[in-house]
Amino acid sequence: MTDITTVYGNDDWWKSAVVYQVYPRSFADSNGDGIGDLPGIIDKLDYLAELGVDVVWLSPIYASPQADNGYDISDYYAVDPVFGSLDDLDRLIAGLHERGMKLMMDLVVNHTSDEHPWFVESSSSLDNPKRDWYIWRQPRPGFAAGELGAEPNNWASLFFGPAWQLDERTQEYYLHLFAIKQADLNWENPEVREAVYEMMRWWLDRGVDGFRMDVINFISKADGLPDAPVTPGATLASGFPLFSYGPHIHEYLQEMHQAVFAGRPEHVLTVGEMPGASVEQARLYTDQERGELDMVFQFEHVELDYGPDGRYGDARPLPLVELKSSLATWQLGLSDVGWNSLYWSNHDQPRAVSRFGDDGEYRQHSAKLLGTVLHLLRGTPYIYQGEELGMANTVFDSIDDVRDIESLRYYAQQRALGVDDETLMRQLRGTSRDNARTPMQWTDAAHAGFTTGTPWIAATPDHTEVNAQAAVADPDSIYHYYRMLIALRKSDPVIVNGDFHLLLPNHESVFAYERRLEGRVLRVVANFSSVHTSVELDDEGFEPLLSNYDASPVALRPWEVRVSAKGY
Ligand code: NOJ
Repeated sequence: MTDITTVYGNDDWWKSAVVYQVYPRSFADSNGDGIGDLPGIIDKLDYLAELGVDVVWLSPIYASPQADNGYDISDYYAVDPVFGSLDDLDRLIAGLHERGMKLMMDLVVNHTSDEHPWFVESSSSLDNPKRDWYIWRQPRPGFAAGELGAEPNNWASLFFGPAWQLDERTQEYYLHLFAIKQADLNWENPEVREAVYEMMRWWLDRGVDGFRMDVINFISKADGLPDAPVTPGATLASGFPLFSYGPHIHEYLQEMHQAVFAGRPEHVLTVGEMPGASVEQARLYTDQERGELDMVFQFEHVELDYGPDGRYGDARPLPLVELKSSLATWQLGLSDVGWNSLYWSNHDQPRAVSRFGDDGEYRQHSAKLLGTVLHLLRGTPYIYQGEELGMANTVFDSIDDVRDIESLRYYAQQRALGVDDETLMRQLRGTSRDNARTPMQWTDAAHAGFTTGTPWIAATPDHTEVNAQAAVADPDSIYHYYRMLIALRKSDPVIVNGDFHLLLPNHESVFAYERRLEGRVLRVVANFSSVHTSVELDDEGFEPLLSNYDASPVALRPWEVRVSAKGY
């Protein structure tokens, strides 16, 4: 099979690429232990090649105690036995390359597991040579170690509770922005940075083609780690403005670029996960001239539906006008410099069709509509495993069905504050990360054909209908529609290079836009609602190209999307 680099013939191949995210724990289990693994992924490479994707982003498979499903790494140079071996990884790389696909590894270097030998050494004594590899602080002045309020600052961890943990042996606290078992590395120490770069070069030499960088905007923190402003009555505060985008962030990314990517024979694909990124920031990070990153994962469009309590409170209904305005701002903001990543979902988000579409009567139509709207924007689209099947949020009967550390900690914290189980389960049904982490639905068999054993998390009951086997067999399926979208991107330069123009910005249920390039226009008109609606747009000269319904009457039907073209 031809490699996308050959097709596009230059360093910009990644602008034409479609990336598919595999969450290995939940993708395919080859040995019946209930956990997905690398041989399982290798078995499915033909499925991915048939879909037409160019790059696989693999969530972490490194050695890990799995406190946060692999985002807590204890050895960057080893594959966790639960996922297989380095040999399996080599076979995966070879299998992808044989089929013209590439591998993007997850790079989790804001923190390591507390079981990483670096941390074990660092915590062993105050004068260990690796002491300064992590962020250690004495108790707050006037407080004894372990006393309430003795944490060095008032930051809350993103997984709830204080962001500091007392180490009994040395009587100092270490910083963990996530779980207690995820200790933040001290990027101010040049030895830490060089150790990370060395590891990255090792993976590139092994054949990987790129990195997705976990919360990479957290690696530089405000000087002195000051307290964050606190709301009256609270003891902990969000340290976000202080632990993200610190003073050295551009310096570190440019240094990494020079130390790892510059001068490699092939362009290394890089995407930085950056919660809170603004368009202005993204322009800097993704300006190729600056030598930092290719793309960032920005969060604006996946935070628009947050209610007053944020991520885990009840969501608010999302006005389409706001979603359009946000996406359009990013499209226009990164049109002259930089590049967008395009995604609806990933392993941290609920399922796209349940959140932005209609996972009931219009599951098929709305999943196709969402795919169309995303894939025809300017940028590199990311498909999260199962999105191409229209997989929906799962069903949690009780908290016992939930596995995600963040959801479990939220539940425990809120219960302790007196919130009832019913409220919390309602919230988790909407927002839990586990919605995206249930087994990939391969067949209608037990556990969705994911495992012959007992899956680590239950399969979603709708797998009897929604599964890859059925989708591949049905030419009208979401899967085949995604294949068409991907093929269209490869055949039509307007999709990769055309300008973006938002149409009807104030229409409450229709998302319409055009892509224009050298006299050619591609128009997308999408009805984000379950009712018929009409729009007034001049159709003269436009030829229908693609739709999720047969022949189009005047009005747009529920969740109908139409793509038409002019000047071709
Ligand atoms: C972002 C990852 O996507 C998420 O899954 C993880 O829990 C945190 N970073 C911590 O690594």
